[in-house]
Amino acid sequence: MIADGGLDKSEMLRNSDYEEHGLWMWAAWFPIGLLLLISKRYAKKAWFSMHFLHAFLGYFTLIVTIVFGLKVTDFKPMESIHNMLGTVCIIVAVIGSLSGSFTAGTMRFYNGDAPWSEKERVTRVAEIHRYAGYLMLLLGNFTIATGVGHYYSDILDGDNRKALGPLSLITFCVFVAVFEAIYRIRNAYSHGHVKTPSPKSKGG
Ligand code: HEM
Ligand code: HEM
Repeated sequence: MIADGGLDKSEMLRNSDYEEHGLWMWAAWFPIGLLLLISKRYAKKAWFSMHFLHAFLGYFTLIVTIVFGLKVTDFKPMESIHNMLGTVCIIVAVIGSLSGSFTAGTMRFYNGDAPWSEKERVTRVAEIHRYAGYLMLLLGNFTIATGVGHYYSDILDGDNRKALGPLSLITFCVFVAVFEAIYRIRNAYSHGHVKTPSPKSKGG
């Protein structure tokens, strides 16, 4: 005899708004997160096109995070770990994109000797955005893991697919580790060091 009358409990508890939210957030922070890193770190030879791709994807991730965060929010950031991290993630995405725009701006107007854009300042601004960028990617992917956990454990009442959360986070970290290893081996064995082209020198 089938005790639940043949009904699939997980299927009945599904929520299309949360699934839409989860899929968009995953796309914005996992594959696009990797592209944000690749465009600025591993594919720097085509500097200009990669720079614009990076900026475009950065704003895309920001917009997706705000739109699909606001779509499901009840403004209860303290209710669960996911609500808390999700809210922090929105704030961090705004700060990160602003710091990215500021970095791109100071680099663009850097001409070697203008007092407001001396090299140290350009470097410092770039460094702030770089560290903020890594932190954002880690936080974004950690937030995905908590979101998947929250959806399958709490909303779908203990569905086994909650394992997809940590799996996604681990896969993201493995991708980054593999990219970084290839990049370092390439540089160490003189297949051409992938360097960022330096800003134009005076008058150039
Ligand atoms: C970086 C990725 C993500 C961000 C920034 C994010 C952000 C948010 C925010 C801001 C909220 C509303 C919090 C509130 O009500 O105060 C929320 C709720 C929620 N998110 Fe995410 N989320 C992300 C990924 C995911 C994923 C991958 C899933 C998987 C399905 C998910 C499932 C949920 C669910 C089920 C809720 C409703 C929480 C509730 O009211 O009980 N999220 N998220
Ligand atoms: C979610 C949004 C963003 C994330 C997660 C992100 C992430 C990153 C990361 C990880 C790096 C460092 C790569 C390295 O190791 O060199 C970086 C560098 C950079 N990003 Fe972003 N970024 C975002 C948005 C933006 C935006 C919107 C812009 C410009 C409009 C931008 C401009 C830059 C620039 C110019 C650099 C190079 C800094 C340097 O030379 O060290 N970023 N970003």
